[in-house]
Amino acid sequence: MKAVLDYLSAHTTRFIEDLCAYVRIPSVSAQPEHASDMQRAAEWIRDHARGIGLEADLHPTPGNPIMVARTPRKPSSKRPHYLVYGHYDVQPPEPFELWKTPPFEPTKRGRSLFGRGASDNKGQHLAHLNAVEAYLKTGTELPCDLTFIIEGEEEIGSSHLAAFLKAKKKSLKCDGVVISDTGIPSLKQPALTCALRGIVAFEIKVLGPNRDLHSGLFGGSVDNPAMVLCQLLAQLRNPRGRITIPGFYDEVVKLTPSERRQMARLPFDEKQEAKFLGVPELFGEKGYSALEQRGTRPTLEINGLTSGYQGAGSKTIIPSWASAKVTCRLVPDQKPTVIRERILQHLWTLCPTTVELQITLAHGGEPYLVSSENPQAQAALRALRAAFGHEPVLLREGGSIPIVNDFKKILGVDTLLLGLALPDDNAHSPNEKFDLDCYAKGMKMGALLWQELASR
Ligand code: BES
Ligand code: ZN
Repeated sequence: MKAVLDYLSAHTTRFIEDLCAYVRIPSVSAQPEHASDMQRAAEWIRDHARGIGLEADLHPTPGNPIMVARTPRKPSSKRPHYLVYGHYDVQPPEPFELWKTPPFEPTKRGRSLFGRGASDNKGQHLAHLNAVEAYLKTGTELPCDLTFIIEGEEEIGSSHLAAFLKAKKKSLKCDGVVISDTGIPSLKQPALTCALRGIVAFEIKVLGPNRDLHSGLFGGSVDNPAMVLCQLLAQLRNPRGRITIPGFYDEVVKLTPSERRQMARLPFDEKQEAKFLGVPELFGEKGYSALEQRGTRPTLEINGLTSGYQGAGSKTIIPSWASAKVTCRLVPDQKPTVIRERILQHLWTLCPTTVELQITLAHGGEPYLVSSENPQAQAALRALRAAFGHEPVLLREGGSIPIVNDFKKILGVDTLLLGLALPDDNAHSPNEKFDLDCYAKGMKMGALLWQELASR
């Protein structure tokens, strides 16, 4: 093990250069103009995996290719087999003008590497590949067989990965999945994440007149799609964040007093958080702390809102249409299909007859909740403790990684969520960065993890 850890320390600079090369590829899955960059990123990570001694290939899908890389196997090996999942796609970088340095020109400032995807998720899965490289290049026997699955559609709902898991079910038979794509409160609080929220995404379009109209000539006699959309949206949630769609909370599981006590133990200062985020104060449904809101309560958010004239000055029109991108975060035991149906029903009921309503469905994913009272979780906690030098915490997080439920349903295994992102990493925001100490500790954790998992 010493050889492995020494190798990791000795190659820090090159590991950072590798991450820079990877981040330089603008693999934005949501934007069709980046199709060739998706391919380039997939090839980059495949070639990198081959370079460190893995057997790696790209598997085409109707969307972006899936990269699969296996550690060298021994005939009739009795070693446990784990999957390591990550994603090479990134969120759109816009708005560009808010980046201090361009999103795809990775830049080191202090102990941070800035660039879109540095933290979410290129740096986090590269840390695991670096750990495996250290085993292979020092001739240290890996205690587990590993299969890396790095996909290119996580940020748009992983729509082709489940079919791949089903098709390759036999060769993917494993003892568990490891994912570093979540967060930690700080470098002094490494974390095992036990819950993720689910998600349901859709787009609402309100169609009015067949062209933008003069608002003086026609105003008052023709309904305004932007106004109708705002009124519809405003009726979905009350000002305190409680969703007003009939039946929305029917399946929400109440937290137990002991779960609430455990969450309350995590240090969290609401005033400081408000300051950090630049809001006058935090928000939320009555009776729940901010951490409870994020980890255990469902939401409905407008992610984008478009209508009418957006240029300089004023333009007196009734816009022809208005549209909103909306997502709900879901918690146990809400089902995306059921919730989606209730939302649509409600919207159809609310919509006035003066406009036309179009609803386009997008991706969805179930919430995830897993116990930490099992040998694998305990092994992961030991690896975190040793790598970070601090006692790990258990988290319920607000983000979503829909594929974890497919790992459970298709392969029958749970996922260890061992994230490396810090709260100020600016995931999905301008100026995303990855902390280089998290990168180093993540590699070390990755190296120790296989030993702990094999020795349980
Ligand atoms: N890494 C995030 C998920 C995450 C981050 C979970 C922090 C918990 C803590 C992932 O890349 C992500 O952003 N997922 C999307 C999924 C969606 C597009 C289906 C999300 O949560 O918005
Ligand atoms: Zn993300």
